[in-house]
This record gives sequence, C-alpha cells and structure tokens, in this order.
Amino acid sequence: MKIIANNLKDTEKLGKIIAKCIEKGTVICLDGELGVGKTSLTQFIAKEFGVKEYIVSPTFTIIKEYEGRLPFYHMDVYRIGSEDDMYDLGYDEYIYSEGVTVIEWANLIEGILPEERIHIEIKRIDDTKREISIEGKGLSFEKLVSELNL
Ligand SMILES: Nc1ncnc2c1ncn2[C@@H]1O[C@H](COP(=O)(O)OP(=O)(O)OP(=O)(O)O)[C@@H](O)[C@H]1O
Ligand SMILES: [Mg+2]
Repeated sequence: MKIIANNLKDTEKLGKIIAKCIEKGTVICLDGELGVGKTSLTQFIAKEFGVKEYIVSPTFTIIKEYEGRLPFYHMDVYRIGSEDDMYDLGYDEYIYSEGVTVIEWANLIEGILPEERIHIEIKRIDDTKREISIEGKGLSFEKLVSELNL
C-alpha cells in the first residue's frame, strides 16, 4: 500500500493513525535514506501514543525507552555492527515485551526482525513530499490497513 504525504502535516496524520492501531508487542520497522523523515514519523506516533517526552534520534545509544499508553521503545540501528550486537543490547526482550517498538534503519537487521511487523518505507519526492509504502503482517498491520482505507 502506498500513500503520498504532501507535507509534514500529512506525515503527522499518518503517525496519529498508526498510534491508534498499535498494541503491546507491535514492531514498526522504518526504512528510507538519511533525513527522509523516520524520526519525524516516530515522534508523531509517540506523541499520539501518549509519550510526553520529546523523542530525539537515538543514533548513539541505539535503544531508548519512553513511557506512553504502553512502554515505547525507539531504536536506531544505523550504527549497529552486526545483528548479534542487537541481542547483546537485549533486543529480544524489547520486541517480545508488553511494549511497542519502533526501529529506524530496520533493513540493516533484516535477518532478525519478527515476522509480524508493520514495515514502512519512506521515499523523498521533494523537500516536503514523501512516498510512504506500508506492508506487514499481523493484527496491528491489519488494523492499520482498515483504518487507512476509510
Ligand atoms: N512530509 C514529510 N515527512 C517527514 N519529514 C519531513 C516531511 N517534509 C519535510 N520533512 C523534514 O525532513 C526531516 C526529516 O528528518 P528526520 O530526522 O525525521 O529523518 P530520519 O529519516 O530520521 O533521518 P536519519 O536517517 O538521520 O535518522 C525533518 O527536518 C522534517 O521536518
Ligand atoms: Mg532518524
């Protein structure tokens, strides 16, 4: 499924819809080139999900924990050396927890992503326009698809 976001406001709207569809254990994978809007989308999801803290890119820490309607884990795996390093950081405990996990640069750890996930790829069209592709498997994904078709 493909969506066009003409501007940041459209990305915000999408973030709000995603926030309504996610539940404990949901994993959201975000891909797309540097500066395309992965963190921005994460911020919009988190805000609507009840995270009061402002999310900043966790590039150097890899994983940051926030509290929203449920625990909210934000990962940026851009600087991860290998998939094994993710396990050392407790990756499994996060993705199979009672919380929600958002992973930026998920394609870098493709081999260890859970089967049930929402996969979002953002492509830059111009300064403010983005093509956003959404795929996935699982209940949260199904819910998102039906919300977006309204
Ligand atoms: N429609 C849009 N959706 C998302 N971001 C947009 C949009 N239009 C403009 N932007 C801008 O693009 C930038 C996206 O930066 P952001 O940090 O979210 O990217 P990123 O993909 O997380 O980058 P990185 O790969 O470094 O983690 C922000 O400055 C944001 O305001
Ligand atoms: Mg980012």
